[in-house]
Amino acid sequence: MQRIERHPILPIPDRRKVPFTWKGRPMEGLEGETLSSALFAAGVRIFGHHAKDGAAQGIFCANGQCSQCLVLADGIPVKSCMELVRPGVRVEPVEGLPKLPRVDAREAGRAEARPIETVRVPVLVIGGGPAGLSAGIELGKRGVETLIIDDKHRLGGKLVLQTHRFFGSIDAVYAGTRGIDIATRLESEARSFSSVRIWLQSAALAVFSDRTVGVLFEGRRYVHVVPDVLLVTSGAREKNLAFPGNTLPGVYGAGAFQTLVNRDLVKPTGRLFIVGGGNVGLIAGYHALQAGIAVVGLVEVMPECGGYKVHRDKLARLGVPIYTSHTVVSANGHDAVESVTIARVDEAFRPVRGTERSFDCDTLLIAVGLDPVNEFFEKAREFGLPAFAAGDAEEIAEASAAIFSGKIRGLEVARALGHDVGEISPDWYRTADILKSRPGATTPERTPEPEAGVFPVIHCNQEIPCDPCTAVCPNALIEMDRTDIRLLPSFVTEKGGKGCTGCERCVAICPGLAITLVDYRKDAEFPTVAVPFEFLKDTLAAGDHVVVEDTDGNPLGRVEVGAVMVLKANDRTVIVKVRAPRAFAKKIAGIRIQPPETSDPLEQYVGRTTDDTIICRCERVTAGEIRKLIREGVRDINEIKAVTRTSMGSCGAKTCTPLVHRLFREEGVPESEIVDQPNRPLFLEVSLGVFAGRGDEEDGHGRE
Ligand code: FES
Repeated sequence: MQRIERHPILPIPDRRKVPFTWKGRPMEGLEGETLSSALFAAGVRIFGHHAKDGAAQGIFCANGQCSQCLVLADGIPVKSCMELVRPGVRVEPVEGLPKLPRVDAREAGRAEARPIETVRVPVLVIGGGPAGLSAGIELGKRGVETLIIDDKHRLGGKLVLQTHRFFGSIDAVYAGTRGIDIATRLESEARSFSSVRIWLQSAALAVFSDRTVGVLFEGRRYVHVVPDVLLVTSGAREKNLAFPGNTLPGVYGAGAFQTLVNRDLVKPTGRLFIVGGGNVGLIAGYHALQAGIAVVGLVEVMPECGGYKVHRDKLARLGVPIYTSHTVVSANGHDAVESVTIARVDEAFRPVRGTERSFDCDTLLIAVGLDPVNEFFEKAREFGLPAFAAGDAEEIAEASAAIFSGKIRGLEVARALGHDVGEISPDWYRTADILKSRPGATTPERTPEPEAGVFPVIHCNQEIPCDPCTAVCPNALIEMDRTDIRLLPSFVTEKGGKGCTGCERCVAICPGLAITLVDYRKDAEFPTVAVPFEFLKDTLAAGDHVVVEDTDGNPLGRVEVGAVMVLKANDRTVIVKVRAPRAFAKKIAGIRIQPPETSDPLEQYVGRTTDDTIICRCERVTAGEIRKLIREGVRDINEIKAVTRTSMGSCGAKTCTPLVHRLFREEGVPESEIVDQPNRPLFLEVSLGVFAGRGDEEDGHGRE
């Protein structure tokens, strides 16, 4: 079984086993997990074969957006990443086009459509992630009747996937606290207000011109919700990437990976490779290492990673090679990923021949950015329904920014409904802008001069919004200009006659693991260096010899571990104390855990001869087919759709549309010449019977 049995951050709950069958074979899932996770845990990652070309199908988004993960559950096609495993459910792969389920014509003829219930509510919030919950809390505080709907089985959105401590402001957005714990806090606060109702497993299907929102309540009952104001906090969906082999099972989104590993505690791979050096890709690599998965490498097409440097450095120090100015050339394998080929790129981002290298891996994560899920907001505006958006649905940024924008939007919504919320401080808008800001300037590292006593060394040298280190020092020795938390913190040796006591609180709280503490008090020649470490405490033990590295991940030497400290106050951050020569003690920023041979390339690179770069996953339309039409002068995506079936599949064009635009760009066609297809509801596929009240036989709304 491929389950995570131990994790340095996440508790492993005791869950009941749920028997089910796959192709008639008995299997066991765990209570509350999705079918896709139960199948992955059992080592199954091919969920069927496409009707058009027989290509193997697996998951891509694990978020209900792409429909790649269809299986038959008791004969009915379902998205396995959204459907919970039920005792005795018979799960079958979708091989080609499945047969329609048998319908008793006489019974169907007698069936009567049930009336559709209408629910009126002052505020409907679509999405119970960081922004939606924060808005709900502000609305709850003011007694505004609010309904929060979320299509998942639990609240928190992407927060529930984040094991690392958060950046941002400790005052405004719980910086220094782990994402999973922020989710719990926001949820319990939102639930504490009687005016806030929450529907889980309830997806918004569409916003209609009569300003109603169609909602599939708990996946079975269709309800019309009529809000006075709509707040869209539905987050983001992952961007896809076009390259040969891009739809092989084993190629999937970084968010899908985090869902499998951190939410469902499944170990879906032994060796993975990552495409994309933004925060999502860098963090996914870190989460993989925490789960005991080898990270063979990461490619980023730009000369620098776009994510926070502290995230990049953390990964590099742990032993993951980061190939900037490189791209993925192909994912290779017959029915699933067996290797990846990468190459350096030239100034026009084209692969340079002769620089190809291949690596053995079974999984390739795509982390090339996010697109806002904003279709509900746009439709609401089009139809004159008062609407607001917050979090990634408004603008892609960190979850800390989503928490704060949700707070502000909650107040704005309350004000739009006539509640007196007073003036929303301009400082709040400024804080929101700061939290949203991209990483700023990188400065040379400032190594402190002294070589005596004890003091922290701050290995954080890029301006990002983050301040927890300034709040924990008992003698307030770490300072920052509080008017802008993007500025770098600095350490002052003494204040009010008090200096550093060596308490290590700054070491433990830094979300970037970018503070060490160097202590010369016992031995000035071989000072002790306290290094933060977020892995299982028995990964290292006193007496071990480890390779230590500088901030950027360059090895400094081998040193002996003196102690491995686990303190409750450090909230699962282990402190490893190494003894190091004074020549490089202050330069130590981390400890390598992954051996270099993990990332050795294959002796020969693997070429992929077939041009099977897929643009439309659902209908298996290749880049070549669409490119041909563009070259023939086609500018209307509707025409491409009519000729090739691009974007006519079950994902509702969510996955392929940005890729089609990209092909136009590559062919030199300006955006202004492209005629887009209309964005029509429904935005999620549902069985037609739902609109007639089918599937709701067991009544009882169970609403919370
Ligand atoms: S993997 Fe299930 S919908 Fe995308």
